Amino acid sequence: MMKHFAAVFASLLAVAGLAATASGVRFQATNNATMTPGGQRFDREYGVGYAVQVMSEASYFTWNIFNQTAPADRRPAVDDRVKLVVNFVSSNILAFERDSESSITLNAGYVNNITGDVRTLVTGLLYHEVTHVWQWGQQDTSRTHSWIYEGMADFVRLRAGYAAPYWLQPGQGSSWDTGYDVTAWFLNYCDELRPGFVAVLNERLKDGYSDDDFLQIMGKPVQELWRDYKAKYGG
Ligand SMILES: *[C@@H]1O[C@H](CO)[C@@H](O)[C@H](O)[C@H]1NC(C)=O
Ligand SMILES: *[C@@H]1O[C@H](CO)[C@@H](O)[C@H](O)[C@H]1NC(C)=O
Ligand SMILES: *[C@@H]1O[C@H](CO)[C@@H](O)[C@H](O)[C@H]1NC(C)=O
Repeated sequence: MMKHFAAVFASLLAVAGLAATASGVRFQATNNATMTPGGQRFDREYGVGYAVQVMSEASYFTWNIFNQTAPADRRPAVDDRVKLVVNFVSSNILAFERDSESSITLNAGYVNNITGDVRTLVTGLLYHEVTHVWQWGQQDTSRTHSWIYEGMADFVRLRAGYAAPYWLQPGQGSSWDTGYDVTAWFLNYCDELRPGFVAVLNERLKDGYSDDDFLQIMGKPVQELWRDYKAKYGG
């Protein structure tokens, strides 16, 4: 399905340039940092056309992980549109998603600093941010449980084959609620034990997160699952 879509997309791109439509959703990308070295590197080594393609592929991938084959099952994007803007942001942040507009900002300063492969690392980041667009529960604005949302976004990135070289290894970390890579590997463990776990968890996040979600879906408290997980990797 993703391959087929990529072919359709390539012909769309020739006409539309920086935007494409998939499953009723429009994907747009803009480079607003072309005056900075990072913005120029983005154009040379990645490009807005490729970014649009990756965002649509990442969306299909995420819907698939979330078991949301029908558009009606999905969380809607604002104006049915997902936007990427490359901007120079004066902080160390790599990228972020603004939930109120389904928009992703990629920090040109980070692109400039990348020492590894720009294609792989930026694609991994886009999978993470695109997951934020589609996951339920981001209305939890207090961000008390931001770790679960960050962990799920890195889980999708991991499943897509884009775990970053700077991540901790599976089994590392001190708690399931650390977020990002640590939580992603733990969710991966749970999802292997019970395939579809993350899809069900995402569905439950419509009503906000609770530790009880793990017990309800996995039949074991999260503390116990974490102990089993650590034991699998030698404690
Ligand atoms: C583009 O960059 C300018 C200057 O840095 C900034 O003021 C503006 O808000 C940016 N536009 C978008 C869409 O991010
Ligand atoms: C890029 O590297 C410079 C120099 O080390 C650093 O000051 C800056 O914060 C880094 N930017 C990002 C987004 O990581
Ligand atoms: C996916 O969703 C369908 C219904 O929409 C359900 O029947 C099926 O069991 C789900 N698959 C998994 C792996 O949860």
